Amino acid sequence: MARVLVVDDEQSIRITVSEFIKEDGHEVNTAADATQALRLIEEQDFDVIVTDIILPKIRGVELLKNIHEVSQEIQVVMITGEPNVDTAAQAVRAGAFDYLAKPISRKAIKEVVLKAAKTKALLDDKKRLEQENLMYQEHLEELVKERTAALQESEEYFRALIENSSDVIQIVDSEGIIRYVSPSVQQVMGYKPEELIGRPSVEVVHPDDLSIVTKAFEDAFQKPEAPVITECRCKHKDGTWRVIRGIGVNRLDVPSIKGFISNMHDITKREKAEEELRQSFERLQKTLEGTVHALASVVELRDPYTAGHQRRVTALACAIAKELGLPQEQTKGLRMAGLIHDIGKISVPAEILSKPGPLTDVEFGLIQAHPQSAYNVLKEINFPWPVAKIVLEHHEWLDGSGYPQGLKGEEILLEARIIAVADIVEAMSSHRPYRPALGIDKALEEIEKNKGTLYDLKVVDACLKLFAEDRFTFES
Ligand SMILES: [Fe+2]
Repeated sequence: MARVLVVDDEQSIRITVSEFIKEDGHEVNTAADATQALRLIEEQDFDVIVTDIILPKIRGVELLKNIHEVSQEIQVVMITGEPNVDTAAQAVRAGAFDYLAKPISRKAIKEVVLKAAKTKALLDDKKRLEQENLMYQEHLEELVKERTAALQESEEYFRALIENSSDVIQIVDSEGIIRYVSPSVQQVMGYKPEELIGRPSVEVVHPDDLSIVTKAFEDAFQKPEAPVITECRCKHKDGTWRVIRGIGVNRLDVPSIKGFISNMHDITKREKAEEELRQSFERLQKTLEGTVHALASVVELRDPYTAGHQRRVTALACAIAKELGLPQEQTKGLRMAGLIHDIGKISVPAEILSKPGPLTDVEFGLIQAHPQSAYNVLKEINFPWPVAKIVLEHHEWLDGSGYPQGLKGEEILLEARIIAVADIVEAMSSHRPYRPALGIDKALEEIEKNKGTLYDLKVVDACLKLFAEDRFTFES
C-alpha cells in the first residue's frame, strides 16, 4: 500500500482519480493547487504524487521541481490535457516517473500508480540499505579504532613486561639467528641487544655444550607444542663462562614471531651453590664413614676374636644385597650397619668375650644385650639410613624366636635379615674361643636347613647361590 497525493484544480478529476487509486488499497490525499500540495508534502510522507501539468499559479513542472527538492524518491506522475511529445518530454526531463493523457482511464492510472509505488519502495529500500551500510561503516571504523587502541595498549604492556624482565627473552629464527633479545641481556651477559641481533645464537655457547643446544633445536622442531629446557655455558662479554638455563618454545607458526622464543636466566651462582652443597655432603658422608670405621675398630680392638668379623659380614651382606637387586642407597645403609653391627659388645666384659668354653646363663644374657646397647648409642647419630634399627634387629629370627624384641617375618628390616644370614655364615666358618671353625659347608647347611623359619628365604637363596657359583669368598 502506498501513500498517494492527487493534485488537480478540477474537483471532479480529483475525486475520480482518487477513487480509482483507492480501489487498490492505497491511502489517498488530494490538493487543489500546488501551494496546498507543497504544504501537505512538507507535513507528511508520500510515495506517489499524481498531478495535473496545468495548475493555477504554479505549473505542474515547477511543482515537480519543488517536490524533488523535498525528496528525490517521491515518484511524480503528470497528467496532461494536451498529449503532445513536447509536454511529455518536458515532464520526463524534469524527472517525472511517467505521464498520462486525459481522459484518464481507470486501468491506466491504476497501473502507473502501482509501478510508481514499486519504484518508490525500491528506492526506499536502496536508501535504507545505503544508510545502514554507512552506519555500519562508521561503526566499523570506530570498532577498528577501539581494537587498534586496545592492541597498542596490550602491545605496550607486554613490551614493558619483556623489557623490564630480569630474565632474557630471545627470539631465534629457523636458521638459528637471533632476531630479538630483550635489554636485560646486558645485565646478564654484558652484551647490548644490537651486538647480538642478527648473529647466530650458538656463537656465545661453550664448544662442549653445542650438542645440548643442537639437540634442543631438534626437539623443538619435532615437538612444537612441548617446551624445551636447556642448561649450557655461555660466554659473558667479560670472558667468563656463565651457566644459562633456558626454556624455549617453537613459535614458527605465529606470523609475528616465526621463531623460537626462549626465556633464559643465569644459574651460575645456583649451580655453584649446588656443587658446593654436593661436595659438602660428600665430605660429610666421608666423615660419617670414617667415624663408623673408627667405631668398628674400637670393638675389634677389645675382642680380637671378632676382629675382621664385622668387615667380612659386611662384605657378604653387600654381596647378597647386590644379588637381591637392593638399591644403591639402601645398600649404603646396610654397609654402615654391617661394619658396626657388633659395636654393642663394647659393653660386654672382655673376659666373657674371649672366654674359652661354654658361657653361663648370666654371661650369655650379657652378650645378648649387645644389640640394644648398640642401638642406645647409634640412635643418637643422625644417619641418612636406619643404621641403629638395622643393628638392633640383627639377631631377630623370622619365627619370632630371636632377640631383643622377638620380631617376626617382615617386621624385621630387610637389611637386618641380610646381616643375620651373613653373620651366622661368617661366625660358623670362623674360629671362636669356645670352638674351632666349623667351616663354610656347615654354615651353608645351617642356613639351608633353617631358611623360611629362622632366616629369610630369598636372602638365604641369594647367599647359597653366591657360594655355589664361587662368586664370593671371605677375606682372611
Ligand atoms: Fe651380633
